Amino acid sequence: MPGGLLNERMITNEVCGTVATPAPREGHQPSPAVATVGTLRTFYIETFGCQMNVHDSEKVQGLLLARGMTPVEDFMHADLVLYNSCSIREKAAQKVFSRLGAFRKATRGTAKAIGVLGCVAQQEGERFFERAPQVSLVCGSASYSRLPQLLDQLEAGKPRVTGLGLDTVECFETEMTRRDNPFRAYLTIIEGCDQRCSFCVVPMTRGPQRSRPSHKILAEARRVVDQGYTEIQLLGQIINAWHDPSPARLSFADLLARVAELPGIRRVRFTTSHPRYFTSDIVQAIDANSNLCDQVHLPLQSGSTPVLARMLRGYTREEYLEKIHDLRKARRAISLSTDIIVGFCGETREDFEQTLSLIEEVEYDQIFSFKYSSRPNTRAEGSEDDIAEEEKGRRLTELQELQRQIQVRRNQALLGRSFEVLVEGYQARLGQAVGRSTTNRVINFPGSAGDMGRYLTVKVTSAGPNSLVGVRVG
Ligand code: 5AD
Repeated sequence: MPGGLLNERMITNEVCGTVATPAPREGHQPSPAVATVGTLRTFYIETFGCQMNVHDSEKVQGLLLARGMTPVEDFMHADLVLYNSCSIREKAAQKVFSRLGAFRKATRGTAKAIGVLGCVAQQEGERFFERAPQVSLVCGSASYSRLPQLLDQLEAGKPRVTGLGLDTVECFETEMTRRDNPFRAYLTIIEGCDQRCSFCVVPMTRGPQRSRPSHKILAEARRVVDQGYTEIQLLGQIINAWHDPSPARLSFADLLARVAELPGIRRVRFTTSHPRYFTSDIVQAIDANSNLCDQVHLPLQSGSTPVLARMLRGYTREEYLEKIHDLRKARRAISLSTDIIVGFCGETREDFEQTLSLIEEVEYDQIFSFKYSSRPNTRAEGSEDDIAEEEKGRRLTELQELQRQIQVRRNQALLGRSFEVLVEGYQARLGQAVGRSTTNRVINFPGSAGDMGRYLTVKVTSAGPNSLVGVRVG
């Protein structure tokens, strides 16, 4: 999946607890939901993974609210507990099992329906019930529109229900989305993925690529503006592969412009772009619309052409650098970020050095870097995962150290410069407000709770590798 979303992009719910494969309860069939689930009045959702998952959970919440259910903050008080899972890397996939184990311990003897959503649900399917017998619902993202029906079946006494079909040609359309982020409205424009990058599990977990028609996207964008949002983030695994299935036949760049032109919109972001489809009309759209944010996330994965070929990425090092060159010619300095995998099958020291040199050449503002993790049913699963774990670790550290130095340099260069930020947080203990610039940089500055949701100008007064501190001006 392009665009793993670490920090603000990745919700890494750190979870304690052991990876547990609970044994069936004594004297019970492994179907604890049967007699006990009753009417599901309250729910709790926990989300792992990318922004797509975060937004999927917002849509699921909307469905549950429309069903008359009430959200609760503590799973102990929920009739229905849902885990929206991520399987991009082995570690991420394990989290849902450790969470289920911890949950089972805490709730022993209480009656609850437990469901697993998202990529691990899709990947494991019915096997989930063997591995975690306390689970009574398993549903992948391509089947979320069926959730109300599945819950009806649970309430009617069916012990186990699944939504695992992947043959959909439709996006999940709902007007009931319950958005959690008060400042930024996520909006899906394309679901699934047809790329088949050899390392990536997403095509198997999110199904085939399907684009939403432009009129539905624009109608939803108008709705969120009417609700008071001034910032929209368009989402898709390969966002720039979006094709308008409606007669309007807008290009992706046209769509960006049309969203940016809506009255009331101050910021439009989009993630994640694939280099293969990153055409210069996207840069032209950013140039022509000042509220299209000067920020692009363009996953590289590797700086070595032979590795890129084995990853089936569809571009060479040189072609990627041409895209960067296009971006660097934009009127505003566009902030760049990327994703890198180290230790992919057969990656030599020379290949890895190609990645280092590209990082140095491009000077990203941020990178998200990962050790290669072999995933089930991917094309690379058949290749030998031949780089030792320690070597992957060393390469990751080396890469991150290089990037740290780049960020120190780049952030130092911002000292004394002023940025418009949208204030997204306030830490009362420190008296610090947290704002985000159009370039997606987080700046902390002395402020108040009343600053939340406001656009303010902040001057940078100090800069570390990962953070900026400033003061309000003007
Ligand atoms: N191993 C390690 N990293 C991976 N990613 C995707 N699949 C894998 C894998 N099997 C990374 C890519 C992608 C980001 C979301 O996660 O860098 O862009």
